[in-house]
Amino acid sequence: MVKIFRLKNIISIKDFEREDVEYILEEASKLEDIAKSREISDELKGKILGLMFFEPSTRTRISFETAMKRLDGQCIGFTSSGSSSVSKGESIADTAKMFEGYSDALVIRHELEGVSKFISDIVNVPVINAGDGAGQHPTQTLLDLYTIKNEVGSIDNLRIALIGDLKFGRTVHSLSQALGLFENVKIYLVSPPELRMPQEVLIDLNKTNVEYEEVTSIENIIDDIDVLYVTRIQKERFGDIDDYLKIKGAYIINKKMLEGKDVIVMHPLPRIDEIDTDVDNTEFNKYFTQAANAVPVRMAILKTLIKNNPK
Ligand code: NCD
Repeated sequence: MVKIFRLKNIISIKDFEREDVEYILEEASKLEDIAKSREISDELKGKILGLMFFEPSTRTRISFETAMKRLDGQCIGFTSSGSSSVSKGESIADTAKMFEGYSDALVIRHELEGVSKFISDIVNVPVINAGDGAGQHPTQTLLDLYTIKNEVGSIDNLRIALIGDLKFGRTVHSLSQALGLFENVKIYLVSPPELRMPQEVLIDLNKTNVEYEEVTSIENIIDDIDVLYVTRIQKERFGDIDDYLKIKGAYIINKKMLEGKDVIVMHPLPRIDEIDTDVDNTEFNKYFTQAANAVPVRMAILKTLIKNNPK
């Protein structure tokens, strides 16, 4: 049993040691029964979670809310900049200070990198980054790792292909950095040349034991991988829509290309067209399991941070 979780805030997966990841995964597996059987435990009774979603979200926001409610806590917050006083000109700092006065922890999603870090520096309650622009999405990574551990058996020795928008996709940035904490991992980075993994992430990978290879097609690697991690082309982060239209639909995974392969398909969702719906009813589909795993993993995160940092 891993005994401690050192972090007060979850801002970047780069702040994690392997033990911190393992702590959350173990805690999540203990909470999974409550999540699956739709029960409520009173671990966070009387606590309030502040949700500050400046950028749209379905799964992340709803699963944080579900996780808080399964622990008998409550949620307050807003779901877009337009529905908060930021639209009247209030600064993010003032909004955050106000939320600090009302809540036991804050969950922040913003289109700009660094906003969660900025808020964590000015409030005393734990801050959780739920996605900052093309930066990081550390809680998605924890549920991705939880899914890999459950479905593949181990994260050490993993062979994984990350496919799609590796430039703007924050989930693949955090996931590859997290895989650097494990042993004997091989990552295939599959993207059009325009959407390659940013240099700063590759520099981080170079400091770890992870072996990685950049490729442009999946045909040659499909027999060599345990996990195909598919991502959406991040339309909203392209300056020029024509650049998006040129690349849109670059990789589409379908049932035929998976048949006979020993691989699972994951996707942080939302999916546009990058996984054909004919994969949905096959044993390859683990993306809906992955989405469901958000609840026990976020329960583990909330329980740990709020209990470790009482107001
Ligand atoms: C992702 C995100 O918001 O970064 N979705 C999620 O949180 N599950 C992926 C995406 O938007 O493509």
